[in-house]
Amino acid sequence: MTHDNSFPADFLWGAATSAYQVEGSPLADGAGASIWHRFSHTPGLVANGENGDVACDHYHRYEADIALMRELGLNAYRFSVSWSRIFPEGKGHINEKGLDFYRRLVDSLRAAGILPLITLYHWDLPAALDDRGGWLNRNIARWFADYASVMFRTLDDRQPMWATLNEPWVVTDGGYLHGPLAPGHRNWFETPIAAHNLLRAHGAAVEAYRAVGKGRIGIVVNLEPKYPASDSKEDRDALVRADAYMNRQYLDPIFLGSYPKELPPLFGEAWPPLPDIDFDLIRQKIDYLGINYYKRGITKNNPNVMIERAERVNNPRAVYTETDWEVFPQGLTEILVWVSDRYGKLPLYITENGAAFYDPPTADGTVDDPLRVDYLRQHLRAAREAIRNGVDLRGYCVWSLLDNFEWALGYSKRFGIIHVDFETQKRTLKASAKFYKEVIRTRGGDL
Ligand code: FCB
Repeated sequence: MTHDNSFPADFLWGAATSAYQVEGSPLADGAGASIWHRFSHTPGLVANGENGDVACDHYHRYEADIALMRELGLNAYRFSVSWSRIFPEGKGHINEKGLDFYRRLVDSLRAAGILPLITLYHWDLPAALDDRGGWLNRNIARWFADYASVMFRTLDDRQPMWATLNEPWVVTDGGYLHGPLAPGHRNWFETPIAAHNLLRAHGAAVEAYRAVGKGRIGIVVNLEPKYPASDSKEDRDALVRADAYMNRQYLDPIFLGSYPKELPPLFGEAWPPLPDIDFDLIRQKIDYLGINYYKRGITKNNPNVMIERAERVNNPRAVYTETDWEVFPQGLTEILVWVSDRYGKLPLYITENGAAFYDPPTADGTVDDPLRVDYLRQHLRAAREAIRNGVDLRGYCVWSLLDNFEWALGYSKRFGIIHVDFETQKRTLKASAKFYKEVIRTRGGDL
C-alpha cells in the first residue's frame, strides 16, 4: 500500500558503521597497524583506556550482523574499509587476506539483497604512512588513489556505491588542529596542508575510479547550519567564519573549484601556497554527496578560538544528547536545501544521523530508548520535508547499526539501534531498531 506521506519506492534505508569502530581484530590476518590502533594503545588518550581490539567483533560476526540487517529490512549498509588491512605498510605489498574479508562481506550483503555503501577512508590511516607524514605529505594523494584502485578492481563488479572520505573536516579539526582524534596533533600550520591533501586524495581517487569503475562515487561530509548567539554584528560575523570553515571548506573546492574567500585570512601565515593545477584534480565530477547530520552550531564571537574565532554556545531550552549535541531536526531540512541551492541539485544521501543516549537494558533484557526513537522520528520527518522542498534525497543511514567504539570516548557513548553487550557480544534490538523497521516497512507513511 502506498501512502501520500511515503518516501520514494527506491529510497535507500541503511545503517552505518566504520571499520575501526566495529570490526575488532585490527592486526588479524596480516593487517598493519592504523593510527587509531596506535592512538588507542597510547595511555591517556581514550576514555577508560579503551581500544578497538575487540569492538563489536564484526570481523568474525558479520554474517550474524547481516542477518540482523535483514530482519530490520535494510536495503543498504554503509561501512568502511580498513586501508591497513589491504596495505599493511600503507602502500606496496597487498595483503590478499584483507581483501578476502571485504569480498566475503560484500558477497554476503549482496546475497541478502543489501546494497554496500563502501567508504574508503573513515579515519584509520595506516600507521606506516603516518610515519611518512600522513596527510601532510603531498604523495598521499597517489598512495590513496593506488589503494582505492585496488578496491575498485576487487569489488566494483559487485556494484557497490563508493565514498572516498568520511568527514575530512573532522580529520583535520580533530586530528591536526585540536588533537582529540588520531594522530592527535595540535598544529595550526599543519591544518590547511592536511585539508588540502585530503581534497587532492579525494580527487585522485575519483579520477582513478573513472578509469576502471562503472558505478557511482562521492564523498561524505559533516555539515551543520550555523546560527548566531545574538543579533550583534560580532556574532553574525562569527557565524560566517564558522560556516566557511566547517561547511564550505571542502565543498567549495569540490563543486566550485576554490576555497571560500574567508579562509586564507583566517589562517594568516599558516595558509600554504596552493598550485592552481590542484584544483583541476579536486574538482572532479562526483555522482552524489553524502551528508552526516547530527546538530546545529550556535556561534559566539571569541577571538581566542583557533580559525573560526567563534565559540559554540548551548541553547538552554533544547534537548541535548549524551555527547552534548543539541537535538535540532529542522537543521537537517535546512542543510539539505542549502546544499541543493548552493551546489546544484545532485543526488544526496544522509550517510549518518543518530544520537547517543543512556539506555541500559531492563531486567527483562529489552532495551527501551524513547529518546532515540523520538530523535529518529523527528529527523526522518525533516528528511521528508527536504524532499517536499525539491531536494533530490535518495537515502538515509542511521548512525549506527551497533553500539560501538566512539573514538576518544571509547565505549561510553552508545549510538546503536542495536545494543551490544561488550562482555558477551550479545546483540539486542533496541526499541529504536523496531521503530526503524516499521518506518522501512511502511516507507515512512506512518511517521
Ligand atoms: C561522526 C563519525 C562517526 C561517529 C559519529 C558519532 O562524526 O563519522 O564515526 O563517530 O560521528
